[in-house]
Amino acid sequence: MPDDARTQFWETARRATLFGRLVKLTLSKPRRKDAELPRNLYARPVELKGEYQLQITHRYVDREEAKNFAYTEGLKYLQDELSENFYNADLFSLDEQLSIMQSRKGNARLREQAPQHREAAVTHDREKFRAIAADRPYLHALGITTAAGEVTAAGRRKYKQINKFVEIVDGLLRDHPLPAGAQVVDMGSGSGYLTFALYDHLVNTLGYDVRVTGVELRPQLVDKCRHIAADNHFTQLHFEEGYIDTYQPDRIDLLIALHACDTATDDALYQGIQAEAEIMIVAPCCQKQVRRDMVVPNDLKPLLDNGILLERQAAMVTDGLRALYLQGAGYATKLFEFIPLEHTAKNVMITAVKQPGTTNRAGAQVQWEGVKQRFGVARHRLEELLYDDQR
Ligand SMILES: C[S@@+](CC[C@H](N)C(=O)[O-])C[C@H]1O[C@@H](n2cnc3c(N)ncnc32)[C@H](O)[C@@H]1O
Repeated sequence: MPDDARTQFWETARRATLFGRLVKLTLSKPRRKDAELPRNLYARPVELKGEYQLQITHRYVDREEAKNFAYTEGLKYLQDELSENFYNADLFSLDEQLSIMQSRKGNARLREQAPQHREAAVTHDREKFRAIAADRPYLHALGITTAAGEVTAAGRRKYKQINKFVEIVDGLLRDHPLPAGAQVVDMGSGSGYLTFALYDHLVNTLGYDVRVTGVELRPQLVDKCRHIAADNHFTQLHFEEGYIDTYQPDRIDLLIALHACDTATDDALYQGIQAEAEIMIVAPCCQKQVRRDMVVPNDLKPLLDNGILLERQAAMVTDGLRALYLQGAGYATKLFEFIPLEHTAKNVMITAVKQPGTTNRAGAQVQWEGVKQRFGVARHRLEELLYDDQR
């Protein structure tokens, strides 16, 4: 993670740009006095034919020249220009105003001021703006886009989902950055849509030095993902064949488990808790176990004798209890709708971030015992994994 001013400056710039928060970014104080060179560079996001781009204006003594770049290329260009031709850069976004000043000796200093702008240079239309560009080659290999980088009708929903997911991860990392050499594990990685997008975003967009591992029990999916990773030169992306509960990680910093079937979500959360993962993100799939073992209290029978209501109630209780077990293990949790219901019924996401200091397991336990009793929950897989040998 950013341990120096330059890395921190460009990471902030990348986030502001990718998430539609950038107002402008300028480079100034040229390293050489030469009338043929620009005095400064001025970059702002623009929308051209429905595509968001970075317009970089080169301001010379006697003229201005503007060029448009795809976001990532534009930022790379500015970064190279700052290291070769300019001493200073100023970033203006809706969230921050950050300046970097470099000395002739190569030292760099950051100055942060309160943001002055309330409106981005372009209003990002979420339908059009995507953190993962559609022309990324692995998306074609995964069957989401055509060879020309157009999202296919069948891939549209998945494409939307991976972008939303990347946005959520990015938001969490903003407050809880990963350490250098962090291990990211995707439990139940399936066809790898989210694993590839996450890797691409962490490594290629944010510049993290991390290793990402997908764990998946179906060998043909593992094989396919390994090939796509090799073809794309994603050298720190690996896929391991096996079950989540028997996977033996050296360490886990960030754990994700999206739509892992039934209690596989509990197996993943247990692995994360055991490994003291800093961040966990799960989107549970079918929650069967609690429903199967629920003994509906008499006063709830008029409601829960109905199959669909019982199923929804069981799903709600399953996830609510998961959050309480996580809190008991020292995590701050959030539950929210991942993507709108019309796209998938599996739309609840739980995020958990490890809290420093002591945990209040007793307080959480009072709550989970109360919930179990009220709804007639006889067993919960995550509780068994965490506490059975202590009973
Ligand atoms: C519904 S898919 C989701 C794939 C991916 N996470 C996504 O959201 O696109 C669930 C995947 O988890 C795998 N899976 C289910 N239980 C598992 C377990 N206990 N260990 C490893 N993989 C598991 C399945 O084989 C399947 O590929």
